[in-house]
Amino acid sequence: MGTKETDWPNRDLEEAYTLPSRYYYDPAIMEEEKRAIFFRSWTFVAHASELARPGQFVTCDIFEQSVIVLRGMDQVLRAFHNVCQHRGNRLVKERRGENMRFVVCPYHAWTYGSDGLLRSAPRTERLCNFDKGKFPLKSVRVQEFAGFVYVNLDSDAVDMETLYPGAAAFLRNLSPDLDRLRFQSEEEVVIPVNWKVIVDNAIESYHVLLSGSRHRELAAFLDFAKDLPVTRNNWWTLGGPAKPGLKEIFGVEIGNEPYQTEIYMNWWLFPNTCVYLVPYVDFVATFLIVPQEAEKTLVRFGYYVPDRPETRATAACRQWMNEGLGPEDFELNLSVQKGLKSFGFDQGRYMIDPERSNESEHAVHHFHTKVYEALRAQRAPSP
Ligand code: FES
Ligand SMILES: [Fe+2]
Repeated sequence: MGTKETDWPNRDLEEAYTLPSRYYYDPAIMEEEKRAIFFRSWTFVAHASELARPGQFVTCDIFEQSVIVLRGMDQVLRAFHNVCQHRGNRLVKERRGENMRFVVCPYHAWTYGSDGLLRSAPRTERLCNFDKGKFPLKSVRVQEFAGFVYVNLDSDAVDMETLYPGAAAFLRNLSPDLDRLRFQSEEEVVIPVNWKVIVDNAIESYHVLLSGSRHRELAAFLDFAKDLPVTRNNWWTLGGPAKPGLKEIFGVEIGNEPYQTEIYMNWWLFPNTCVYLVPYVDFVATFLIVPQEAEKTLVRFGYYVPDRPETRATAACRQWMNEGLGPEDFELNLSVQKGLKSFGFDQGRYMIDPERSNESEHAVHHFHTKVYEALRAQRAPSP
């Protein structure tokens, strides 16, 4: 029998109680997660095509840490802490851009090459013992993986191939254009909920038939019984094929326009990266859950498309996601966040079935176990 609180995680998921409520609103736990998880995990930055040409850059923030990823004039991809080595000013404010031959601080114009070396610093020639070589930008780990670019603030982090075995091949098999995509658009929404509420909601299909008209539309075009959540150590997938014989999707006849795949698939890397594909739709989309505070999360939806005119099904799907399914899930998330703080709730039960079917919440238990283990490893006294 699972027990409450004291020995979470309940390893026997068939009888486990859910993660205690305070994990969803306690600022001290958010602070622990920041250090144990987000400062040590691979964070999604961009598609490789956004960083292909010398001078292209993308920035991303991981809580108060800001990183700039830049393709150097020498073609090398690098990432740096986005902070000037003079007095700590933030260097680059834009989210993405091109033609950055030098990184120039807007405060006193210290100027760094695209390799991060300090090239000029006005008036420092009059300083005693000033050595430009001692003030390069500080490097951050960067890696390309399955068509996209990621950074990691932990210089000792395990590389992504080792951490997510099989994940890159899985995504490549779904998207024939994965390496030829280009950035199309990005939408950001900040919602007052804990990041785990959003992940929990997105990795179970138990709610799909039960909680909203847009969700039922999703189930109507999928072979829903095959929409299986599959967990692996550090990554998981959730999805399945379209209904056999489906004639149209989002009001558009199937068959006349190009698309990526005939399968609906959410491809997740722990902790907070989701790349997804929709059957008969010609995009690869990203769903990034970026925590900011215990009860505040930025959700970033990115759309990446092949270099050809957008199909009608693709445009209709994007609108359906942004204006239909997404808001329906946000309503659920907001309602759960309120309920988690109720004096009348602490821990529930995971809905687990022996088949690990589309309506089983084993992936939620797996995700909670990953979070808890990261916190426990950090809480353990060092030997
Ligand atoms: S803080 Fe950047 S040049 Fe002064
Ligand atoms: Fe949902």
